[in-house]
Amino acid sequence: MAIGSPVTAAAGRPRLAGGGHGAVLLTLLVAAAAAASFPGVESSCQRDNSIVKDISQMPQGSYGLEGLSHATLAGALAHGMKEVEVWLETFGPGQRTPIHRHSCEEVFVVLKGKGTLLLGSSSMKYPGQPQEIPVFQNSTFTVPVNDPHQVWNSDEYEDLQVIVVISRPPMKVFIYDDWDMPHTAAKLKFPIFWDEECLAAPKDEL
Ligand SMILES: *[C@@H]1O[C@H](CO)[C@@H](O)[C@H](O)[C@H]1NC(C)=O
Repeated sequence: MAIGSPVTAAAGRPRLAGGGHGAVLLTLLVAAAAAASFPGVESSCQRDNSIVKDISQMPQGSYGLEGLSHATLAGALAHGMKEVEVWLETFGPGQRTPIHRHSCEEVFVVLKGKGTLLLGSSSMKYPGQPQEIPVFQNSTFTVPVNDPHQVWNSDEYEDLQVIVVISRPPMKVFIYDDWDMPHTAAKLKFPIFWDEECLAAPKDEL
């Protein structure tokens, strides 16, 4: 299935805040259509339209990734975001994201701790030996679009806590087994781990 599938578009739409009655009705119709065409949505998907949210009350979890705590502060699926998504993530000492790439923009703000951004190449056939770029508390960094990378809490003792902003949600991520894997062999993971509760994986994925 293509990345920008109609299912994806419909699933994001019910979050639209309607203007008048027409918009409300349209929103309901679209929501009903999305629900009908999308029976895989799990009940654990918590949608929340409120303007102010207490972060400590928001869903957070490891989503199967060891040593990670992830919370989507403003997301496409749960909060109807269209252009950007904001996450709060904490990595335990020594923990890393998978090696991955995505075609959206990504900005990090390091709230606590320090770590290493490993950055591979998108101009060779495979990522190759990554650059090791130190990041630290109160630093901010961006990941170039489509560059394979890994965020690593390279500290032995302290957590690394970051705010992450991405463009064009929901994120489609391609995951590498190692830095020598060809870009063409990286595996699409969509929906990304924490979006699975709100957006079931397309059945006919390659
Ligand atoms: C981060 O930098 C800003 C701007 O210089 C400063 O106001 C703030 O106190 C710094 N925060 C920490 C935790 O170092």
